[in-house]
Amino acid sequence: MKIDTATVDLALTTTRAVRRRLDLERPVDDQIILDCIDIAEQAPTGGNQTSRRWIVVRDPEIKQKLAQLYHDVVGGFMIEARDRLEGADHPSAPVVRSAAHLAEHLAEVPVIVIPTIVGRHDGSGAPGLFDSVIQSGWSFCVALRARGLGTAWTTAILAKGSELKELLGIPDEITEIAMFPVAWTKGTDFRPARRTPAREITFFDGYGRTYESGPGTPARMADGPGVVVETDIAAQLDDVWAAITDIDLPARFSDEFTGATWDDGFDGPALGATFTGRNYLEVMGDWEVPCFVDVCQEPVAFGWCTSDPDNPGARWRFEVQPLMGGGTRLLYRLLLGPGPSGLNTFIEQNPDKEHRIIANRLRVHRANMQRVIDGIKAQVE
Ligand SMILES: Cc1cc2nc3c(=O)[nH]c(=O)nc-3n(C[C@H](O)[C@H](O)[C@H](O)COP(=O)(O)O)c2cc1C
Repeated sequence: MKIDTATVDLALTTTRAVRRRLDLERPVDDQIILDCIDIAEQAPTGGNQTSRRWIVVRDPEIKQKLAQLYHDVVGGFMIEARDRLEGADHPSAPVVRSAAHLAEHLAEVPVIVIPTIVGRHDGSGAPGLFDSVIQSGWSFCVALRARGLGTAWTTAILAKGSELKELLGIPDEITEIAMFPVAWTKGTDFRPARRTPAREITFFDGYGRTYESGPGTPARMADGPGVVVETDIAAQLDDVWAAITDIDLPARFSDEFTGATWDDGFDGPALGATFTGRNYLEVMGDWEVPCFVDVCQEPVAFGWCTSDPDNPGARWRFEVQPLMGGGTRLLYRLLLGPGPSGLNTFIEQNPDKEHRIIANRLRVHRANMQRVIDGIKAQVE
């Protein structure tokens, strides 16, 4: 049997968290919920043991009580946040608006489904307890989507574990996993969300090791090898942005980079600005590298390429992301090539050792990059 990839991919990529487009008027038949649970039960399970239990809530009184619990944990906060952000151009505003809408209408959703699993996650001794239910929950969401229904994966109510257990008579040895508000969707034209491309978060043959293409076996410079390090910082985005655009700052932490100075005519981060970086390694002595700012998107990304902007020897990037709940995630990326750099001389002399030369160089870079982000973290926190 040939599977229609396009249809499967469409379902997988457009199963969104639906809140505002849940149809609160149209009844949902029990059979369609049971069909979706049957599909979800095909998901892998540890020990091939049937341990998932599904609670389907329709009773208006129970739904009202669930809605109250949800309101107390997070819904009230979401409604207040939505009202506060009203009219503001805040990146979280759409999700907050959507979450607040769900909080206000949870009791009116036709069906609320709560997947659970036999066992307690903590100290249960059960192999891969959560790992045996999460995938099933997601299958349930996709099966709903394929039929024109929708839901949102919500877990906030789990903070009210004992109230939830009492309300639904859930035994102590059962773990609740999520709460799915289920309804037909208003329209079915959902789109893929913007997510980080696989190339940026997929590491080949070692954590943090990225490639722009391939990699072949063994990896070559032509594959665009790179490395990324990251850390979560308990500081405001603006403070982290100020640190990463201070081009001289990494010299305090790196064992190789000794400093940088803006070239004549430039005195701060701007697209097209240039600076000169200075480095030192025992085997190489001191050397300087011309650097060209090729990304300057405040407060998201700051980066530069080296040697030749049209054919860089390397590309360096800082990226910052605000974290839900406060704080900032800082990523520091390096891509080698595609132009020549000091590395090429070594590779030309030892072409059969190309992959080893690349791996060793990236190991040194990675250690220094880690020192830099750890240093920035310590400084701004
Ligand atoms: C573990 C987990 C817990 C979540 N908890 C909630 C929740 O309590 N309330 C809510 O409205 N959404 C919750 N969400 C949904 C996310 O907020 C949602 O995935 C996000 O808004 C992005 O939407 P998208 O999945 O359509 O891209 C949760 C998602 C996950 C994976």
